[in-house]
Amino acid sequence: MFVFSFDVPNSLIVALIFTVAFKIYYEATKGVCMSSKRLDGKTIIVTGSNTGIGKATALDLASRGGRIILACRNLKKALVAKDKIVEKSRNPNVLVKELDLTSFTSIRRFAADVQKTEPKLHILIHNAGCGDIEQKTTEDGLEHQMQTNYFGPFLLTNLLLGLMIETGEKEKENVRIVNVGSDGHFSVGDLNLDDLNFSYERSAKTIWSPVQNNLWLPIKIYGTSKLCVILSSCELARKLEILGKPVTVNSLHPGGVYTEFSRFSKILSFLKSPAEGAQTSIYLAVADEISNVSGQYFRDCKIAQPSELARDKEFAKKLWEVSERLVRLEPKEKFF
Ligand SMILES: NC(=O)c1ccc[n+]([C@@H]2O[C@H](COP(=O)([O-])OP(=O)(O)OC[C@H]3O[C@@H](n4cnc5c(N)ncnc54)[C@H](OP(=O)(O)O)[C@@H]3O)[C@@H](O)[C@H]2O)c1
Ligand SMILES: *[C@@H]1O[C@H](CO)[C@@H](O)[C@H](O)[C@H]1NC(C)=O
Ligand SMILES: *[C@@H]1O[C@H](CO)[C@@H](O)[C@H](O)[C@H]1NC(C)=O
Repeated sequence: MFVFSFDVPNSLIVALIFTVAFKIYYEATKGVCMSSKRLDGKTIIVTGSNTGIGKATALDLASRGGRIILACRNLKKALVAKDKIVEKSRNPNVLVKELDLTSFTSIRRFAADVQKTEPKLHILIHNAGCGDIEQKTTEDGLEHQMQTNYFGPFLLTNLLLGLMIETGEKEKENVRIVNVGSDGHFSVGDLNLDDLNFSYERSAKTIWSPVQNNLWLPIKIYGTSKLCVILSSCELARKLEILGKPVTVNSLHPGGVYTEFSRFSKILSFLKSPAEGAQTSIYLAVADEISNVSGQYFRDCKIAQPSELARDKEFAKKLWEVSERLVRLEPKEKFF
């Protein structure tokens, strides 16, 4: 007769096998950029690169010989990061420029500075982002997370597009826009294009809280901001493809990464390190095999499927138009 007995040593072995299997699975799927591509002569902007995933991304790209512009809101923190990056990469061609995404004035000043000082721009990595737990409005009168994660990067992309297209045409090679999104967008089931600023929802009182909207609203706004990042990446890729312009645009989920962003979850030691979390951003910036791939969503250095809503092309088109209005893009700033 077959008897299955679970004595202590057995269950220990089972637990060990599961742990090892999980670790193997995790290591196999976490995604590493294997490209050894050099970036000598290339100019790269990484936003929010004084810490976390952005700093790890900038360090890797600096090690490949590129000219790296750290676009950060806090110059003091950015200069400390710059010194570290220069020291570790042995590449002195790393500079800091001020960029605060919660201010359209700051974004326009940054873009004008880049246009003035940089003859070329090969790679633009929109990495900066925030996850709020409270309600805030920016100086431009927009919801704080929406502007930091989506409207600000949207405006900056539009302002730098001309320079990037020129660069691609001169180099006869695609230049690249990389947008850090998030799987957090899966939590969003609908998108109200008439209230991208969440003015209505933020003012609505609910049974959860008589003072302001419910506890989940900031999380929903975060997911929405990342959904917009993915949708607008696809729409920009489509617009550029129609015109045959040498610029690719892709978005990505970095994974669950242990950074300042997730500092509240220190116990989650299975999270990726910043260097691991930077792999998909680096891959999209340098890998040769995807030099013609555009409008896709990546996870662990592989094409992945975003949510159904994130794949709605008609929706993406409308979102682009509404966004142009909300960031008050001037006629002379419009490329399309
Ligand atoms: N960590 C994760 O598990 C995870 C998961 C999915 C997606 N992501 C995304 O990955 C990206 C990087 O996140 P991280 O984990 O590395 O976070 P982090 O450690 O908090 O770094 C975020 C960076 O963005 C900058 N930033 C925030 N607001 C800004 C503003 N208004 N203007 C300019 N820069 C601003 C921060 O600057 P300060 O240092 O001055 O605050 C910092 O450099 C974000 O877009 C995030 O949404 C992260
Ligand atoms: C965005 O929302 C804030 C707060 O509800 C409001 O003050 C502001 O006027 C709104 N801005 C736009 C452009 O709708
Ligand atoms: C990308 O497209 C160009 C032009 O069509 C082609 O010459 C090149 O081989 C393609 N590269 C890859 C990696 O497919």
